Amino acid sequence: MKPSIILYKTLTDNLIDRLKQRVNIIQVPDLSPDTLKKHADDFARAEGLLGSGGKVDSALLENMPALRAVSTISVGYNNFDVNALTERGIALMHTPTVLTDTVADTLMALVLSTARRINEVAERVKRGEWTHSIGPDWFGVDVHHKTLGIIGMGRIGMALAQRAHCGFSMPVLYHARSQHAQAEERFNARRCNLNTLLSEADFVCLILPLSAETHHMIGAEQLAAMKPTAIFINAARGQIVDEQALINALREKRIRAAGLDVFEQEPIDPQSPLLQMPNVVATPHIGSATAETRDAMAHNAVDNLLAALQGNVTKNCVNPEVLSR
Ligand code: GLV
Repeated sequence: MKPSIILYKTLTDNLIDRLKQRVNIIQVPDLSPDTLKKHADDFARAEGLLGSGGKVDSALLENMPALRAVSTISVGYNNFDVNALTERGIALMHTPTVLTDTVADTLMALVLSTARRINEVAERVKRGEWTHSIGPDWFGVDVHHKTLGIIGMGRIGMALAQRAHCGFSMPVLYHARSQHAQAEERFNARRCNLNTLLSEADFVCLILPLSAETHHMIGAEQLAAMKPTAIFINAARGQIVDEQALINALREKRIRAAGLDVFEQEPIDPQSPLLQMPNVVATPHIGSATAETRDAMAHNAVDNLLAALQGNVTKNCVNPEVLSR
């Protein structure tokens, strides 16, 4: 008999057809308590779980005693209680490679749009304010040859360093737990402590996973260490930054601008002061959101789930220790 899976994300018909050859699909809208109650029997017998965006914690796992594999359509897995999954021998699969270049492009887009004030001036043009040759109040600042600081030097950090170094002639600083010889050799990146990066970089780009260690890693003290001309970019997770401290720093003009793809609360409250500030570019967590990359991620997540259910995982497993049990 085919195993059952809970699917909590919409997939294309061709992926649904592929899945159906191997598993029975129970499609649900989300992982909320209401959904769980309504589909209690389905959750109880499901051996797989596929989707993104929902919280997978012990409370949910209590209701899924048959679960063997979870596959998230994302690289980040902060919504998952990895310890609880590992204790139960459940494999957690994710999509760490297929979105690298797209997220690096998003970071570069935030760098360019904040520095050159793209949204702000484009809106002014639409409002009919371009009535004569523009003056300094429309000017931005250069990106090329400025110093780019990367906090987190994983795959995406590397792809950002490549863009900055090869495309924009930017010196690259990075702060990471370990040394990255490749980044140093290929992009002349210089490893430094957080304070040096914050005080020297013209662009501070955050791209590392959210964990207990990185929660609120950027707060008032770190923002105060940045240059008043510097721009802060976050395409990682909102909770890595103390958002109120960021609002204060921007309000008091202690930094120039911010490009934010992620927020402490998502979707962001439309009343957030961040959305009132002309020097903030806010995007709705679009890091990997291109048609091509989201499609590649969905395919990757389906492959990952099927591999985990069939016991032939070779990559993309967050807790590979469960595989040898
Ligand atoms: C996006 O934020 C992801 O984790 O894939």
